[in-house]
Amino acid sequence: MARKKIIAGNWKMNMTPSEAVALIETLKPLVKNDDVDVVFCVPAIDIIPAIEAAKGTNINIGAENLYFEEKGAFTGEISPNMLVDAGVKYVIIGHSERREYFAETNETVNKKVLKAFEHDLTPIICCGESLTQREQGITIDWIRQQIKIAFLNVTADQAKKAVIAYEPIWAIGTGKVATTEQAQEVCKAIRDCIAEIYDEATAAEIRIQYGGSVSAASAPELFAQADIDGGLVGGASLKPDFGKIVNYNK
Ligand code: 13P
Repeated sequence: MARKKIIAGNWKMNMTPSEAVALIETLKPLVKNDDVDVVFCVPAIDIIPAIEAAKGTNINIGAENLYFEEKGAFTGEISPNMLVDAGVKYVIIGHSERREYFAETNETVNKKVLKAFEHDLTPIICCGESLTQREQGITIDWIRQQIKIAFLNVTADQAKKAVIAYEPIWAIGTGKVATTEQAQEVCKAIRDCIAEIYDEATAAEIRIQYGGSVSAASAPELFAQADIDGGLVGGASLKPDFGKIVNYNK
């Protein structure tokens, strides 16, 4: 069975609650496409108004982070239960910005992935290499390490439902999109790594996105690659162009 594409916006730290509602009103007629799962990952404070604004549409609301404990003295954090109760279905885990600015590691990513699955949230697990790593020829080794640790103690049934986002750090917010060959090569290596950890059936089901300066112009060719099942989109997800990205196949 063909994997359904999944195209997600990552709003990052943009949009106040009222701006979020206005943006969803603008985008909702533009992002209709039954061939694609559409997700808007929004700042925590926007989740509740965004879910309200997206009611009756094909837009799923996701979070940009969660904490790996159930509750308690963790000032400023958001628990999985809070997300589930608000109606969230997806959560980005281990974005490179969280790894860089908020000291997230492969180990905390793994804890968050396990916690997300425990609560039936679909994790969008991010991985990606720096420019130095690419130039040193260690991209695939690095990504395999990120994937192997992120999936520690994750069952095959859980892994099948996961989404992995391959985001080369040098392509994020730079306008410098990876070539389709570079993106496909790493997404295939990720699928091979999943087959190695689990089996071919699991690898065939898991969805792998590309992220990093995706635009309406680059999306069709990227998403046509054998191992690229959609995109995780930053800047362009805040604009009407996101409708064109979601409708890359029309
Ligand atoms: P840009 O699309 O702005 O490069 O951001 C990509 C990204 O980090 C999505 O998570």
